[in-house]
Amino acid sequence: MSDVILETHDLRREFGALVAVDDVNVKIEAGTLHSIIGPNGAGKTTFFNLVSGTLPPTSGTVFFKGEDITALPVHRTIHLGLGRSFQITNIFPNLTVLENVRLAAQAMGRDSFRLLRSHGRYDQYLDRAAEVLDQVGLSGQELMPASTLPHGDQRKLELGMILAPDPEVLMLDEPTAGMAAEQVPELMDLVQRIQEDGDKTVVLVEHNMNVVMRVSDRITVMHQGAVLAEGTASEIAGDERVQTAYLGELYDDAKPEAES
Ligand SMILES: Nc1ncnc2c1ncn2[C@@H]1O[C@H](COP(=O)(O)OP(=O)(O)OP(=O)(O)O)[C@@H](O)[C@H]1O
Ligand SMILES: [Mg+2]
Repeated sequence: MSDVILETHDLRREFGALVAVDDVNVKIEAGTLHSIIGPNGAGKTTFFNLVSGTLPPTSGTVFFKGEDITALPVHRTIHLGLGRSFQITNIFPNLTVLENVRLAAQAMGRDSFRLLRSHGRYDQYLDRAAEVLDQVGLSGQELMPASTLPHGDQRKLELGMILAPDPEVLMLDEPTAGMAAEQVPELMDLVQRIQEDGDKTVVLVEHNMNVVMRVSDRITVMHQGAVLAEGTASEIAGDERVQTAYLGELYDDAKPEAES
């Protein structure tokens, strides 16, 4: 086993009779961009919730850097270095851009309890926020209320909020959702740059197959809660079961032009 940073063993979550995540075994290699794809309702967000500690599993285990983190609540997994986004925008609309990121650095950082007693730390978090805003391309917009940012910039802000505590793993659930098509490559380039330059691991849920095929080192395909296939982008693009279950519907650009 090479450098596996995140791993699940028979991870399972039932909602009544529904098996939303069905004994999923996934290994995420450190420093890679690993996408999880699958049709609506496949269990991708539930899987994220189980891994990050947002939701307890029915059974199974989650390991982060070899440590069993299954029972840990989300604030503990964040402290350990596991950062996650939510499918729905998670910013404080009335606060400024800078305050949103500063609070994320502070609240998620290891020193949150000591913060109020130390002025120096406040400055440290402000510095960190400014650094992160530069990284995600929002310098110059620090003092704008977050709600006044265009939607695409709000998604960048969210990315900044995940980055603020400097996680080792970023779990991004549809980071480009709702973005205009022409803004998507910019955000994904940003994600790739963060992953490659910052030596981070990214776990990505994304419906845009062109994006997924371009940026992923590995892809896990979920279908009805279970893992249907796993491999490199070209292995997945060529997998017949995946084509039948899923890709054919979504990966329109891969279809021959003949039909129209
Ligand atoms: N809290 C819940 N209570 C009951 N059922 C749930 C709950 N959360 C998710 N589900 C169900 O579990 C299944 C998996 O949902 P999930 O949101 O994980 O799918 P997804 O792959 O993220 O889908 P999408 O691509 O639409 O975001 C769905 O059938 C969903 O209705
Ligand atoms: Mg989802």
